[in-house]
Amino acid sequence: MRNIVLAGATGGIGRAIAEKLLESDDIRVWGLCRAPEDEKSWLGEHEGRLHLGAWDASEPAHFRKNLDDLLPEGIQMDGLIYATGLLHGEGLKPEKRLEDLDPENLSHAFSVNAIAFPMLVQALLPWLEHNDPKRFMAISAKVGSLEDNRMGGWYAYRASKAALNMFVRNLSIELPRRMKKVCCVAVHPGTTLTALSEPFKQSLEQLNVHKPADTAGNMVTIFDNLTEKDNGRFVDWDGGDLPW
Ligand SMILES: NC(=O)c1ccc[n+]([C@@H]2O[C@H](COP(=O)([O-])OP(=O)(O)OC[C@H]3O[C@@H](n4cnc5c(N)ncnc54)[C@H](OP(=O)(O)O)[C@@H]3O)[C@@H](O)[C@H]2O)c1
Repeated sequence: MRNIVLAGATGGIGRAIAEKLLESDDIRVWGLCRAPEDEKSWLGEHEGRLHLGAWDASEPAHFRKNLDDLLPEGIQMDGLIYATGLLHGEGLKPEKRLEDLDPENLSHAFSVNAIAFPMLVQALLPWLEHNDPKRFMAISAKVGSLEDNRMGGWYAYRASKAALNMFVRNLSIELPRRMKKVCCVAVHPGTTLTALSEPFKQSLEQLNVHKPADTAGNMVTIFDNLTEKDNGRFVDWDGGDLPW
């Protein structure tokens, strides 16, 4: 059995990734979300192979306790998929100009989109003390690419995803020094119809918009094929490379 931690397991892309992973009989998914108590029927569909625990990505001080509550002691974790993120929310709209910037919104976006990823890897260390391959995949966004940014705007989202990308690069350097057969990547999932992209539905019409199940298929294919050779890449949804 392979054990995968999935942060954001009840989001549009996260839930579809969980369903895709669970198509393989040899995988158990350990999901983190904000309201696991609302998911009884979903858990029932995957008795024993889907486990959900509570967390808030903006509260890293609690991550170790969140994992202690979810993961059995001594079990080995083979991978982490970070599918948590926000673009809009309470009082937060993607900024169009400098006057729209709000320090609390910027800080919250950095917490959820960037800081939580390495803090979760840190909290997960006790479950990574084994010699089997380990894969870490952070779902980032192409708009977090510095080189690709020609339009500006979306300050909090772009900058927090760029920070996430830097955390991925740093981890891709440190993790192989302390554990074997490890790979850590950032991945752009492609524009996908979820609650996150919903407000931009009209402007997305000209783009190639993916259904969550298709995105999940792409993400799981990338995840399953990750080897040490991919370590430190920024991967596009079709497996190609993106500029940092
Ligand atoms: N959809 C797209 O077109 C698109 C494009 C590029 C990148 N992405 C990235 O893909 C990832 C998944 O996005 P999505 O489209 O699936 O969006 P979504 O449906 O809105 O899901 C967002 C996820 O983030 C979680 N989340 C937000 N704030 C949180 C917090 N404070 N604590 C814990 N969890 C929190 C939500 O948790 P709950 O379920 O617990 O509420 C949910 O699982 C994000 O990183 C996003 O930036 C998406």
